[in-house]
Amino acid sequence: MTGEAVVITDVGPRDGLQNQLKLLSIDERVQLIKAVAAAGVAQVEVGSFVSPKAVPAMAATDQVFAELQGQADYSALSIALIPNMKGYELAKAAGAKTVTMVLYASDGMAQKNASMSMAEAEAVTLDILACAKRDGIAVIATISVAFECPFDGPVDPALVERIAAKFMAAGADQVVLADTIGAAQPQQVRELTARLVQTHGAAQLGCHFHDTRAMGLANVFAAVESGIRRFDSSIAGLGGCPFAPGASGNVATEDITMMLSQMGFATGIDMTKLIAASDLAQQLTGTAPGGRSKPWIQRYLVKTQK
Ligand code: COA
Ligand code: ZN
Repeated sequence: MTGEAVVITDVGPRDGLQNQLKLLSIDERVQLIKAVAAAGVAQVEVGSFVSPKAVPAMAATDQVFAELQGQADYSALSIALIPNMKGYELAKAAGAKTVTMVLYASDGMAQKNASMSMAEAEAVTLDILACAKRDGIAVIATISVAFECPFDGPVDPALVERIAAKFMAAGADQVVLADTIGAAQPQQVRELTARLVQTHGAAQLGCHFHDTRAMGLANVFAAVESGIRRFDSSIAGLGGCPFAPGASGNVATEDITMMLSQMGFATGIDMTKLIAASDLAQQLTGTAPGGRSKPWIQRYLVKTQK
């Protein structure tokens, strides 16, 4: 695997900030996105187009897009999360080139997150895919609670396989399995991802793990062993869903980058700049834990400027 590429999407500016009590200004959100992008992270979830009443921290994501298109063009790396058709229309109007639409492996989560059933979310996603093809917008279909739901309990992997197959066939650019509450364990991840890779190939599959039970990196490793090469992670380990009780931060971008680069994968990420982005995330939020590996990275991998 020496030099084989892995694609890391930093979801901190969306998944991370949506769960913070402290609301960042547009300027602070943009600073964080630029710092993460400057480190060489391939894609960044820069915000969501959701009800500002439901998630105040993600209000005015259109202004974030406007700022990002202002000086340099960040549109190739910016992703917007959307829960419904209104979110799609808002993302398109803001100039988003890639959207992440949320699907569900349980009705409980679909109701709590988007006031829909699983089937309704699937129907809307098919409509969004049709619009997006016409509009030249890429769609990532993320299957929320793909391993366990905080309301409905463990998820049958056959259900996730069915949803993944349906949206691969419908033309989603990627399908991502999201362990929204961090309840997955590596053996389960290995088995499900292996079956999906066997059926669909790895190119369009990704995984999104939360580190709630300290199994985030173990789950990443299990998915890597099955051939998955796309992962979401969050700068400084920010993260958590306000509508999924018990969800804590995503796998930290510092940790996943260190593990995968030490395993010989090419991440394209500059550790010195990543640590600068992590410092900024901690400074702006006051609560971001920082990756577990951060002190080690600072000691051994970061170039000190004297
Ligand atoms: N973006 C912004 N506003 C939206 C919207 C969107 N994507 N979808 C609906 N709205 C607005 C409606 O226009 C309406 O506004 P109004 O009160 O000013 O009339 C209001 O939100 C309620 O709309 P309604 O269709 O009745 O939806 P709801 O109250 O059942 O809420 C969601 C549904 C999806 C809008 C809301 O639950 C939501 O935004 N959830 C966010 C989920 C999230 O971000 N989860 C974390 C990431 S997965
Ligand atoms: Zn998440």
